[in-house]
Amino acid sequence: MFETKILSADESSINEAVNLLKSGEVVGMPTETVYGLGADAMNENAVRKIFAAKGRPADNPLIVHISRFDMIEPLVTEIPELAYKCAEEFWPGPLTMIMPKSDAVPEITSGGLDSVGIRMPSHKVARAIINKCGFPIAAPSANLSGSPSPTTAGHVFNDMNGRIPAIVDGGFSAVGVESTVISFEKDAIRILRPGFISAEDLKEITPDVIIDKGVLGKLENGAVARSPGMKYKHYAPKADITIIDSSLGAYRTYVKEHADKDTVCMVFKTDDCEDLGFKTICYGSSDSEQAHLLFDTLRELDNIGAKKVFARCPNKDGIGLAVYNRLLRAAAFQVVKL
Ligand code: TXA
Ligand code: MG
Repeated sequence: MFETKILSADESSINEAVNLLKSGEVVGMPTETVYGLGADAMNENAVRKIFAAKGRPADNPLIVHISRFDMIEPLVTEIPELAYKCAEEFWPGPLTMIMPKSDAVPEITSGGLDSVGIRMPSHKVARAIINKCGFPIAAPSANLSGSPSPTTAGHVFNDMNGRIPAIVDGGFSAVGVESTVISFEKDAIRILRPGFISAEDLKEITPDVIIDKGVLGKLENGAVARSPGMKYKHYAPKADITIIDSSLGAYRTYVKEHADKDTVCMVFKTDDCEDLGFKTICYGSSDSEQAHLLFDTLRELDNIGAKKVFARCPNKDGIGLAVYNRLLRAAAFQVVKL
């Protein structure tokens, strides 16, 4: 097996990554949300390599990344009015907009759908790479399918070593959870996947913001997912996670009654329950800190060999909704409400 190269984010390394992308290869690259597994979005063979490296089902579409607004035009047949407003307000940044796709976008990139998700990232390394390539870059999160998304080059290396030629190291992803994914319906915005750009933020664009029921619910058997990614198992560490939706006092009582020597308490800050004597792992005391640390924490649970985890429940508004959405999937929807 060959070893995947970790490149620094200086100019010559960026050029090396760009040359690989131009020759149809897949490169791990930083963005402000999570690391992506990038390839030329318009090159079918290159995109096929992304699916192979991740072990991703072919019907799960990829997000196409651009660095200038005019790169959208060849990709779509129509730009909804609301999309212009959202771009003005939130791009470059962690927002993906679903639009009707043109024939120029290969079917493999859009997972066979007649729409395409487009995002303009704000991370300066991602922007430099797309600019130098001159073509849009398809990039899913750079984890193996089903694993927590990567927020460091090391996470990408753990999942992708020997599967891709190189990873560009751009530091710890600032946001930490993937972009907000939205679609448009007449005067409404539908949130298919919550992220740093919150429902509250989007209400500044239109009061009509719908949170798709797939965000908090488990898709029923046979139901068609508006966002195909929502039907797959996600973010799952080996540990069995249960979310405890309660006050701190009730959480502590639950832990005292139900934890054993193998239990890890996933809490906001050490003094939430350290005195109870169980292993604890903290994932941050504010919503944005939890978003920043969630995936690293989920990977850390595997590193310490955690078997059973009781997680405190994040807030369900603002960016907290994005954290809750990911944690719910990591916990296979096991929630104890007290
Ligand atoms: O922040 C992000 O969005 C990261 C970075 C790398 O940009 N990318 C990312 O990609 O999270 P991925 O492939 O892991 O997740 C994309 C999600 C999936 O749930 C997919 O089903 C959905 O977006 N999606 C993509 N295109 C879509 C489309 N045309 N219609 C509906 N959902 C779509
Ligand atoms: Mg993903």
